[in-house]
Amino acid sequence: MHLLHFKNWTGKQIMDVIDNSIEIKQNPQDYQKELEAKSLAMIFQKTSTRTRVSFEVAMTELGGHAIFLDWRATNFTLADIYDETKYLSRNVNCIMARLLRHEDLKIMAQASRVPVINGCDEKYHPCQAIADLMTMKEVKGTLKDVKLVYIGVHNNVCNSLIEACTKVGVKIIVVTPLVNEPSKDKELINAAEKTGLYEKTLDVKAAVRDADFVYTDTWVDMEFFLDPKYAKEKEKRMGIMMPYQVNAELLRDSNAYVMHDMPIHRNYEISTEMIESSRSIIYQQAENRLHTAKAILLALLKK
Ligand code: CP
Repeated sequence: MHLLHFKNWTGKQIMDVIDNSIEIKQNPQDYQKELEAKSLAMIFQKTSTRTRVSFEVAMTELGGHAIFLDWRATNFTLADIYDETKYLSRNVNCIMARLLRHEDLKIMAQASRVPVINGCDEKYHPCQAIADLMTMKEVKGTLKDVKLVYIGVHNNVCNSLIEACTKVGVKIIVVTPLVNEPSKDKELINAAEKTGLYEKTLDVKAAVRDADFVYTDTWVDMEFFLDPKYAKEKEKRMGIMMPYQVNAELLRDSNAYVMHDMPIHRNYEISTEMIESSRSIIYQQAENRLHTAKAILLALLKK
């Protein structure tokens, strides 16, 4: 079984990983030998702080070992992804990959004889969504009758949130004036619509009023943020998105907790005062990437 997205995962399977993450966070000492002598290959085409650190520390704390592979320093750059993965999966027990293109991740999954985990591509970020739901459950004690409002650009993080929320019974409203073209997934949206738990609006004030959680993310994907060729598009996006910044004025009539998957661009998608406010659960959410990485690895690797 792989974790590329949630299309082939049931709500129960997702909930089990969330609940196991909470259990592991509370009793880490009970899991120190669970992946003894197991190895994880972590391969990155893009930058990362949390995904790399959380999976590497997770393997260490579960008694196993993680190998960091910078794509540019490997022979993936000059050979078929299929062939290189065929080899890789004969030497490690699991592969976590952050690739630019989901199509390449699919090739990796086809070639691999061990589980492949999507560490974020242009379409999905399933590991992030599991950490987000774990954090929401920690804070509220339940995911029943919970309402999440995602405000920002419709991107990979938004896709995985929609997919995971609607599968575990959380209502999700998205306020997304812009859509990242490569993230579009009609099948995912159609499936979410059928649950009755997914809505789309541009009335951001009304959406946040009775929200339990308000979530935002970068308006410009990580691989473009510092790219001078993308400067004009970035400026255009700032103009469109600024009225949707998560700030104290927007949340004046709302008691929602504030979430962000990080990295943060302060005073763009979210104001500094919101990041630092008592309703911010952003750092708890980021910390939970570690506990959920452990639960994901155990779900995929334990017989
Ligand atoms: N949220 C997240 O995936 O963080 P990194 O890009 O730093 O891994």
